[in-house]
Amino acid sequence: MCGIVAYLGKKAAQPILIEGLKRLEYRGYDSAGIALLDDGAISVRKTSGRISALEQILDEARTDDTLGIGHTRWATHGVPNTVNAHPHVDYSGKIAIVHNGIIENYATLRTWLRHEGVPFASETDSEVIANLIGYFYLTAEESGRSDGQNLFEWAVQQALRKLHGTFGLAILCSDFPGTLIGAKRGSPLILGVGSSEYILASDAAAIIEHTTQAIYLADNEMVLIGPEGFYTKTIDNITIAKDVMQIEFSLDQIELGGFQHHMLKEIFEQPESLSTCMGGRIDKHDGKIKLGGIADYLRELTRARHVIFTACGTAFHAGLVGEFLLEHLARIPVETEYASEFRYRNPIIEDGTIVIAISQSGETADTLAAVEQAKERGAMVLGIVNVVGSTIARATDAGIYLHVGPEIGVASTKAFTAQVAVLSMLAIELGRRRHISSDEAARHIEELSQIPEKIERILELSDHIRDIAAANVDRENWLFLGRGFNYPVALEGALKLKEISYIHAEGLPAAEMKHGPIALIADGMPAVFIATTGPQYDKMMGNIEEVRARGGKIIVVATEGDENIADRADHLITIPDARELFQPMLTVIPLQLLAYHAAVLRGHDVDKPRNLAKSVTVE
Ligand code: G6P
Repeated sequence: MCGIVAYLGKKAAQPILIEGLKRLEYRGYDSAGIALLDDGAISVRKTSGRISALEQILDEARTDDTLGIGHTRWATHGVPNTVNAHPHVDYSGKIAIVHNGIIENYATLRTWLRHEGVPFASETDSEVIANLIGYFYLTAEESGRSDGQNLFEWAVQQALRKLHGTFGLAILCSDFPGTLIGAKRGSPLILGVGSSEYILASDAAAIIEHTTQAIYLADNEMVLIGPEGFYTKTIDNITIAKDVMQIEFSLDQIELGGFQHHMLKEIFEQPESLSTCMGGRIDKHDGKIKLGGIADYLRELTRARHVIFTACGTAFHAGLVGEFLLEHLARIPVETEYASEFRYRNPIIEDGTIVIAISQSGETADTLAAVEQAKERGAMVLGIVNVVGSTIARATDAGIYLHVGPEIGVASTKAFTAQVAVLSMLAIELGRRRHISSDEAARHIEELSQIPEKIERILELSDHIRDIAAANVDRENWLFLGRGFNYPVALEGALKLKEISYIHAEGLPAAEMKHGPIALIADGMPAVFIATTGPQYDKMMGNIEEVRARGGKIIVVATEGDENIADRADHLITIPDARELFQPMLTVIPLQLLAYHAAVLRGHDVDKPRNLAKSVTVE
């Protein structure tokens, strides 16, 4: 949700900022801008629209400026127009900022500053930060304040202490042409440390082209970068030392590599990403699973009386699959809760309750708030997160990383299958310790290890699935129906279609159809059934007949070799067999492809669907 990037070094800043913004564009893409510092003056270029629109209004000649800040926006306060776009310059013209986050007390601060005679140009909460820093800077300058501390740094600290809410910030001051300040609370901020150059960014994607060395700022910390290097402090002016870490992913992981879209690349990466996620964790020989990140917590997990999964969006659907897995294999009572509901619901956390947050980005505001809420109530809180070092990964007591590399497509795909794989491993291991025999655990592990190869075979159906999408893409209402372990997959299939093709879709447990949604079925309405082998297969056949009898178009995901189903389906997708409890990692693949092809056929920008953002750092 908003990407920020800043550069200080020896090279021309403008092309580096633009390249960085393009890599962060998936975080937000409704307006963009940069500010450069040149001969003691700040020059700003900004516009509504994408980075490509910003490039149209840049001065090609600007190759001398070696310090600048940039922003790509996902609007919260104020429509996405040029005035509301970042960077924001304060009323004195000396301070420029780019901001990711939300300032909750901006209205109070703005009223106060207006009362002090400070003018405002935009509708944003972010402009308050620029003006607040400018206000402290100018008043201290006028009063001749001199306690030895750099005035720019002091003014930033005064302003940040007054802010309620979240921020990732990069800040320039025209009186300090060799200085860049970054600060963070609640929104991510990373400093890439190159040789004689620094890139400050909201995620590593904008940094790795230049360096793989980075420091990850924690909340209420700031970094001051100058000609002699950088130092880190808290916003309360206490000096702190930070370790330089190695950024784990590489450039080719975030490039398209011949695919038309990141989403398609990520769908096709799943055999490999799942192998990486499970590799080193499942041991087929001794029938055990090693989850290093939670090794110290396994005793408590094994004794858990109640597990709560909390997550948003696709991660919530993975949590639902996890609920079924953990209940089935380990017989632990589980609830899966939307993080946005859990956090405000006065949840019951008792002795033996363990909360597990699931998040691809590790930055989703509601999930983070749910983690904090659970911690306050004394729960042990674990994380299943993809982005290493992210806020949720650090806020939880321990966790399991997905290790699937960066996910750039806004619609989550490879993170979902990896979340389910991690939950499967967790359920098997807890099951082995509580409920199932070692032999049974070993059989499950063997089955799990075959999943990547089976996905490989499903991906070969991509063209066939595109034909199915083409035949139905003009229909504006779809149903997705599943039972048991495939019920969450039906929810996920509907979400994927909605997100990127803007077709209205509903996911349901198939048996619920008769309690209302069946009234929607009309001539030619597509209904996607996940009707693979399993205990509820016969019931599913009944549901198919009910929709067929009412003129619905039947699209079925079935198991290879199912001879009954062809007559009942208008379109059939057959996939390799698997035990019902591991099917979600397979059945979701055709639904991801169906949504992808439908969106492309409708001419949408699959990686940047309207109104959405990859990581939602607002509530
Ligand atoms: C956004 C994304 C979804 C994602 C959800 C949760 O809405 O568009 O794809 O599932 O956030 O994100 P997280 O990073 O916490 O998994």
